[in-house]
Amino acid sequence: MKIIRTVEEMKEFSKKIKESGKPIGFVPTMGYLHEGHLSLVRKAKEENNTVVTSIFVNPTQFAPTEDLDQYPRDEKGDSAKLKKEGVAAIFIPTINEIYPVDYQTYVEVTELTKNLCGRSRPTHFRGVTTIVLKLFKIVNPDRAYFGKKDYQQFRVIEKMCRDLNFDVKIVPCPIVREKDGVAMSSRNKHLTEKERRDTIILHQSLEKGKEIILNGERNSSKIIQTMKNMIGSKKTLKKIDYVSIVDLYTLKDLHYVDRNILIAVAVYFGKVRLIDNIEVIIDAKNNA
Ligand code: PAF
Repeated sequence: MKIIRTVEEMKEFSKKIKESGKPIGFVPTMGYLHEGHLSLVRKAKEENNTVVTSIFVNPTQFAPTEDLDQYPRDEKGDSAKLKKEGVAAIFIPTINEIYPVDYQTYVEVTELTKNLCGRSRPTHFRGVTTIVLKLFKIVNPDRAYFGKKDYQQFRVIEKMCRDLNFDVKIVPCPIVREKDGVAMSSRNKHLTEKERRDTIILHQSLEKGKEIILNGERNSSKIIQTMKNMIGSKKTLKKIDYVSIVDLYTLKDLHYVDRNILIAVAVYFGKVRLIDNIEVIIDAKNNA
């Protein structure tokens, strides 16, 4: 497994693979890898001869008040895990390599980034799309793998590729959960034992929301209120950022559940902001 730190070397590596006519599967990450990331790598391995992973804690997707400095890092541990999975190369650039002095260019998906996390993190997705586009240009993958825990991120990147005529196929992958249902996240590490126990309520409330809908409830406010009451019952909850019912594709709020939807939540337990979601398919015919 190659560890590549420069853009030039990464481009050269990909060029050689492409010349041999074999596809590249790409898994971009910010490191501190858990089973969720590894499930993306495994899917990429199934579908591509060569898998490249990147590890880059991207500063442009963090606001100045956010946890960039606290973001956990473990290059040695990550490399060992990726080697075991049969990854061909890891791209680990420095910040300067990606954003040299006087860097000024950003990519923005306008509508899809307005709701959900885009509301409370207004500069976040601009940072995500900019880094992902740069990584796509450098790695030149045929397919790229994204977890559905960051559902809005997946839709935003899918849209960016369609709008900018990128040929990379975006492959969404299921959320990987701990045994008790908590979605895997690098941020879970910052939770206290008590907070960690309370976070189970996120998945439980999402399952409850889905159940109510499948039993016939269509009024979003009622469903959201039931979920907020459940989440609010936990002592270590600090703040609910949002509990939203949105169209599965446009991610716009829906007052009435009349199509396939996503229920999405963002919540603070202590200082840690966690997100989770569940898809509810009420019209299988329109689940493109
Ligand atoms: O999901 C992530 O880890 C990041 O947002 C990504 C896609 C690697 C871009 O920095």
